[in-house]
Amino acid sequence: MSFLVTDIGQLVTNDETRPGLLGVIEGAAVAIDGGTIAWVGREDDLPVAYNAYEMLSVGGSAVLPGFVDSHTHAVFLGDRSHEFALRLEGATYEELQGSGGGIYSTVRATRSATLGELVDASLPRIARMLANGTTTIEVKTGYGLDIPTEVKMLDAIDQICNVLPIDTIPTFLGAHVVAPEFSDDRGSYVDLVAGEMMDAVADRVAYVDVFCDEGAFTVDETRWIAEAARARDLGVRLHVEQLGHTGGAALAAEIGAVAADHLDHATDEDLAALARAGTVAVLLPGVSYSMRERPPDGRRFWDAGVTVAIATDCNPGTAYIETMPFIISLAAVTSGLTPAEAVWSATRGGALALGLHDRAVLATGMLADIAVLDAPSYGI
Ligand code: NIG
Ligand code: FE
Repeated sequence: MSFLVTDIGQLVTNDETRPGLLGVIEGAAVAIDGGTIAWVGREDDLPVAYNAYEMLSVGGSAVLPGFVDSHTHAVFLGDRSHEFALRLEGATYEELQGSGGGIYSTVRATRSATLGELVDASLPRIARMLANGTTTIEVKTGYGLDIPTEVKMLDAIDQICNVLPIDTIPTFLGAHVVAPEFSDDRGSYVDLVAGEMMDAVADRVAYVDVFCDEGAFTVDETRWIAEAARARDLGVRLHVEQLGHTGGAALAAEIGAVAADHLDHATDEDLAALARAGTVAVLLPGVSYSMRERPPDGRRFWDAGVTVAIATDCNPGTAYIETMPFIISLAAVTSGLTPAEAVWSATRGGALALGLHDRAVLATGMLADIAVLDAPSYGI
């Protein structure tokens, strides 16, 4: 199908050949051919060939590349809203987890759900993300921690992706926490994740992730799991330096991980290493917000030359957030990014964090994933 998007008030292209970080064009039109962008420019300059395309007027709205939410745990079952209230009363993440809550509570609910129940609970959530402009979403496993449930989560992701017009990138997060039945033998769990469990999912995921942090997996365990991923030709992305500084960011840079996420406790040396390695920093200001922690300092990352992405981290415990526009706002209000940098990080930055070079730039030949705002400009 071919059509022409017209009457665009302000078009964010992220095209490096145009002026400014966002390559904004005023009074623009975009011609789309079978899901790919055929032409982008000022409507006044539209080549006559596109006059035959079906016109779709957006009535002066701003148009952006669709948001790329590069870090989510959006497929899960169960409700942990009471943990939010407990945290407001002073309970810590570690305390909640230690008493069988936190991730363990979601694991119990997800294990006992049928595939249909998991899809029924997660699909409306992801549909709302789509309605808020997200066109590509990464979704992690990690609420199974056993082979059947990790596979069930991937089945749920596939079913949702087949129904909704959203691109879904699944990530294997068997190393989210040590499965409860292995609490006395974490070494065997790490071996299971890096062996049989990874084999069961390897042809269905692009990435392997590890929660490398205090109270989660050590740097040595993470390195072992990352090597197993490499041996199966899978990319690596890591949760690092969220709860403390354990050396995960340096490891991410050393092994050339595509992304290192959270990074609240990253040092200046970590930032320099990430910049050198080309590892994208995925900052999650929504987590700091709902955990009442200091927000990540996006300015520091940007100024150190690190490629920055921002994402929701939508999950049932530490950040129940579906909307990228809220994250863009938080990134500017609390993390020191300019509105333009925040928009770039939510679009092109997110795509780069997922190794996707075919989207989030509105230029000829790129994917025509676009979000139409109910506003004339991208500004916050
Ligand atoms: O990114 N840090 C680990 N994982 C998630 C939280 C998941 C959960 O609490 O269920 C995060 O914050
Ligand atoms: Fe996470």
